[in-house]
Amino acid sequence: MRKKIVAGNWKMNMTPTQAVELVNTLKPLVANDEVDVVFCVPAIDIIPAMEAAKGTNINIGAENMYFEDSGAYTGEISPKMLADAGVKYVVIGHSERREYFAETDETVNKKVLKALEYGITPIICCGETLTQREQGITIDWIRQQIKIAFLNVTADQAKTTVIAYEPIWAIGTGKTATTEQAEEVCAAIRVCIGEIYDQATAEAIRIQYGGSVNAGNAAELFAQPDIDGGLVGGASLKPDFGKIVCYK
Ligand code: PGA
Repeated sequence: MRKKIVAGNWKMNMTPTQAVELVNTLKPLVANDEVDVVFCVPAIDIIPAMEAAKGTNINIGAENMYFEDSGAYTGEISPKMLADAGVKYVVIGHSERREYFAETDETVNKKVLKALEYGITPIICCGETLTQREQGITIDWIRQQIKIAFLNVTADQAKTTVIAYEPIWAIGTGKTATTEQAEEVCAAIRVCIGEIYDQATAEAIRIQYGGSVNAGNAAELFAQPDIDGGLVGGASLKPDFGKIVCYK
């Protein structure tokens, strides 16, 4: 049995002051030990959010990191810094990073390997555009993203990672993939992991759905056999996030 994992992705929202307020508001609402709860927050909010979340079931994660330990990379944050701060999760290769900050499957792979080296669980994002879906190449596209993201990752490492399937056309649009569409792709990702590694790895890895998850659709999505939780943007900034974490 895979434990569900529900992660909030705050994106570029919440000042440090607001971050502390939001953690305090959500604390009692997300107290569900049956689910791993992660708040992925802007870098500047990590420390104050962690302080505010102390003694709760909330894990604070990062939204991105660079793939070097340290050095002349102005503006970047390293896995060494995140690990030292106690960060356990990091979102890698979100479609917004790919679209606006030129991230590629290759940089995603480098970041995944680095995060694992530092004992940080990568939440590895993949997803197709609307054009790709309409052209019928969704599964081919996702398989390629997954295969490159996992280059040189061992089976034991892969088992600890989280994959987030996020159709780009469903992100922030209010247009959720249907339960069947989401399950179809998550199941295909699991098959792909089974082909790269083995059945045990495929069964261990957790696969989230992301894209307009809300309090109304979470229960049905998370009940699918291959959907192990969600990566939640907009609704993670509201008390509704508590309903998503406590979806049952
Ligand atoms: P959304 O974002 O829930 O606002 O659609 C999801 C994401 O980008 O991770």
